[in-house]
Amino acid sequence: MEFGRRTLLTGLGGLVLAGGMTSVAGNSLAAGQTQPGGRFEQVGGDHGWKPHKLDPKECAEVAYLGYWHKDYGCGYGAFYAIIGLMAEKYGAPYNQFPFAMLEANKGGISDWGTICGALYGGVSTFSLFWGRKEVRPMANDLFRWYETAKLPVFDPGEKALGFKGSLPQSESDSVLCHISVSKWCYVNKIEAESKQRSERCGRLTADVAAKTAEILNAKIDAGKDYKGVFPVQKSVSYCGECHQTKGNEANWAKGTMDCTPCHSGAKGTMNKFKDHP
Ligand code: HEC
Ligand code: HEC
Repeated sequence: MEFGRRTLLTGLGGLVLAGGMTSVAGNSLAAGQTQPGGRFEQVGGDHGWKPHKLDPKECAEVAYLGYWHKDYGCGYGAFYAIIGLMAEKYGAPYNQFPFAMLEANKGGISDWGTICGALYGGVSTFSLFWGRKEVRPMANDLFRWYETAKLPVFDPGEKALGFKGSLPQSESDSVLCHISVSKWCYVNKIEAESKQRSERCGRLTADVAAKTAEILNAKIDAGKDYKGVFPVQKSVSYCGECHQTKGNEANWAKGTMDCTPCHSGAKGTMNKFKDHP
């Protein structure tokens, strides 16, 4: 696909005008404004797209199909379920997005097991519409829900594409692909490279997309007043009293992930380089 100046003008142009930036063409820029198209200038403005409400149930179904589409995986499925659905319903600018780039998130980014790709797919949609301050409580809600929810919930029934039948649910305590997948596989004695595991992640992608849509809808209703509903994890507030408090001699810890799975001395995190099968 050609994504040149012409596409931008026809595809995103309407949005630029709707955003009130009528001085795109010509030399009528106000003092202090940089030329759009110059360094760091974003056509349509930063976070400039308009959000639309979506049906979480529909998002879940699309996310599941997206996960299996060309095997693009979790990040693609969750992101397409939001922005792809807006594209199907409203056209430009959503349909200009190169959705396939979300494939990078598969398996916690190129199978590195870092952030759950479905979470990245979901949370990154927020930043198309809102800046950091407003996205933070939305991201917190999505991530804390994910740490504590028993997943997967979504069940495609007869339409299952990887594995038919019910699957065990588990609470990951972590937003990381590695921890989420490995714990589930270990507890249920299911191979990480199995169809059941792929199916589990496909269904979980559907759950994440539905939750993302719920948060998006709530944010559209609440506007700047959106506060979020999930409390800070007990560990983060407790450990954070010293490790994340400005001026404390032990203020060293970055992040908002639940500290427990990695720092509670659980059996799985003990030394495995010694006396281990
Ligand atoms: C009352 C303050 C305080 C709280 C609460 C606290 N820490 Fe610490 N922590 C410290 C201090 C001070 C050190 C440095 C100790 C040293 O240098 O030996 C430290 C060291 C550490 C270290 C590195 C050294 C080690 O012992 O492994 C880790 C990891 C750590 N804390 C994690 C945590 C976690 C996780 C929690 C929550 C369960 C937590 N801490 C709660 C004060 C605190
Ligand atoms: C995904 C696992 C994971 C999570 C979640 C996590 N940590 Fe860590 N943390 C680590 C690892 C691994 C290190 C490096 C330990 C090392 O190599 O000594 C570390 C290092 C630290 C250190 C520096 C001390 C050291 O030994 O290097 C502190 C302090 C710390 N973590 C506190 C926290 C706190 C507080 C939280 C929760 C807000 C948290 N961590 C969440 C895995 C984690």
